[in-house]
Amino acid sequence: MSTFQAPKGTYDLIPPESAKYLAVREAIAAPLRNSGYGYIETPGFENVELFARGVGESTDIVTKEMYTFETKGGSQLALRPEGTASVLRAALEANLHKLGNLPVKLWYSGSYYRYERPQKGRYRHFSQVGAEAIGAEDPALDAELIILADQAYRSLGLRGFRIILNSLGDKECRPVYREALQNFLRGLDLDEETLRRADINPLRVLDDKRPDVQKQLTDAPLLRDYLCDACKAYHEEVRELITAAGVVFEDDPKLVRGLDYYTRTTFEFVHDGLGAQSAVGGGGRYDGLSEMIGGPALPSVGWALGVDRTVLALEAEGVELELPASTSVFAVPLSEEARRVLFTKVTELRKLGIAADFSYGSKGLKGAMKSANRSGARYAVIAGERDLAEGVVQLKDMESGDQTAVGVNEIVAELESKLG
Ligand code: HAM
Repeated sequence: MSTFQAPKGTYDLIPPESAKYLAVREAIAAPLRNSGYGYIETPGFENVELFARGVGESTDIVTKEMYTFETKGGSQLALRPEGTASVLRAALEANLHKLGNLPVKLWYSGSYYRYERPQKGRYRHFSQVGAEAIGAEDPALDAELIILADQAYRSLGLRGFRIILNSLGDKECRPVYREALQNFLRGLDLDEETLRRADINPLRVLDDKRPDVQKQLTDAPLLRDYLCDACKAYHEEVRELITAAGVVFEDDPKLVRGLDYYTRTTFEFVHDGLGAQSAVGGGGRYDGLSEMIGGPALPSVGWALGVDRTVLALEAEGVELELPASTSVFAVPLSEEARRVLFTKVTELRKLGIAADFSYGSKGLKGAMKSANRSGARYAVIAGERDLAEGVVQLKDMESGDQTAVGVNEIVAELESKLG
């Protein structure tokens, strides 16, 4: 029988590579934790309807990419393709918005699923860390989120990313623009499907990547020229706040996103070392989403950064993360008694917070030292019958190769002081 393989469009995170993913998640979460965001976790699946209404009936995500299924009980569920609708649903369900403490600021980290055509940087199972600030209309909140994402990327050592920014207007000005855009699109030479899209969701056409379509869009009306005064002022304030924070961004009046809930501020973090899948993260304001899923009016803003693509971006830039060695001390027993003695020492070291590992199984000295080497440990502690008879163990510095005898009763304190 042939062995199983990970499903198409998915991959496994395996040591030592997997440590990078943990470090990236941690680096993205750190500035959020430091800025009043509380951790939230929601189920991996939700009612299909939540995403259909939230993300948008006419989006690719909902029409083509959702993993939907019927349960044995007859419920229509979908694996979550994104986090925002779920987080808002959870916040509403828990009445977090009624606790008199708006905005409700939440962050999350998890797996998301989209049935996309797999390629480098685009997977069917991928990982995001996201943040949502629910229930406040305040340009400083939009700015805060953009600044925190910038800080997260910088803390990882990432430099080659750009922030692109746009405003998608609100329910006052967007419909006017929408109509102007539709009128423009109707005059173009477009295929059936694209014309249909122009009817249902004209802004999405702006995101069409085909060169022949893009060429025709050069003179398309821009939302920027249709923004109402309130949206204009709001956007100007966001721009000023992030500029004052020293965060560099580019205005992109053609930026549209693949999800329908956005209003006003929208942004993407793009990395030019990634080829076609250049967006490492994205987000924006979604003032109408709560009402779309049956809640009260709760203007909100958020983002999600893709962990997989962030790791690829780091690799593209050649950034080596400073990952702490997973093991500091590796114990190599050479007799039965030494096994018991060193196992006890390893347990003591671990209790002190020192990362220690042990040569399990019956390897000879050579095999065990190979394991010690592979573990990346700074020190090996080796003991055989003769050492123990003399009341010592051998402490080997794996960097210099120096080896010294240390008293059995002193070894833990000795390592603690060396590694402290
Ligand atoms: P999104 O732009 O669809 O936004 O996804 C955010 C990020 O997730 C992308 O920039 C990308 O890095 C990563 N990503 C998306 N799809 C894939 C894939 N198939 N393979 C690998 N990585 C992928 C959202 O999901 C919104 N919920 C963001 C948001 C939060 N807006 C407001 N709050």
